[in-house]
Amino acid sequence: MSASLPYVLILYYSRHGATRAMAERLAAGVESLRGIEARLRTVPPVSPTCEAVDPEIPAEGAVYASLDDLRHCAGLAIGSPTRFGNMAAPLKHFLDGTSELWLGGALIDKPATAFTSTSSLHGGQETTLLTMLVPLLHHGMVYAGLPYSETELMETTRGGTPYGASHLAGKRSDQPLDDHERALAQAQGRRLARLALALAPLQEKRS
Ligand SMILES: Cc1cc2nc3c(=O)[nH]c(=O)nc-3n(C[C@H](O)[C@H](O)[C@H](O)COP(=O)(O)O)c2cc1C
Repeated sequence: MSASLPYVLILYYSRHGATRAMAERLAAGVESLRGIEARLRTVPPVSPTCEAVDPEIPAEGAVYASLDDLRHCAGLAIGSPTRFGNMAAPLKHFLDGTSELWLGGALIDKPATAFTSTSSLHGGQETTLLTMLVPLLHHGMVYAGLPYSETELMETTRGGTPYGASHLAGKRSDQPLDDHERALAQAQGRRLARLALALAPLQEKRS
């Protein structure tokens, strides 16, 4: 990874690996463009014991996100398994710690998108995506979903919505992404990267 290239932060939480597999597809989409990189980061689980502290380096997957990863990104893709039709607590916990960035307007005019995974087909993919967008709007980000020019949106029988990529992981959360879900997640990463490059001059004007 080069220190000088702008990057899209792909920030996700995943317990069984489905959302992580989506994150990796979005990263491939970002990196299909020249001049921008993907930075994959996760967040630690939250615990019912408030004093519990997780090791700094997770046992597998991406390393944990820092506020600086978010502060300096050119764009943000945020991914969560659906939990009762909403994002998972560990991601919400991370976002609740971003007041400092909000106060300084660090994310204003940066593009953002969301992705999710569910166990059941009508188990809340759209509600999760739309509710994940709310804190991003508070931060002044510019939300981008998926346009219907991505023809898989009309063809999918599993995941994939105009609000963002989604995946049907199944009852045991063990179903791999199918071709449509993979293509849409990749297209979403590519689109976000294109928008991040296009909106970058706005950041230069603000600083
Ligand atoms: C507390 C909890 C709530 C859940 N709520 C939903 C839900 O509302 N709809 C649904 O389809 N699946 C629900 N699930 C299943 C997860 O969305 C599913 O396990 C997840 O998509 C797998 O993603 P991962 O492999 O990235 O962890 C829930 C799981 C848990 C543990």
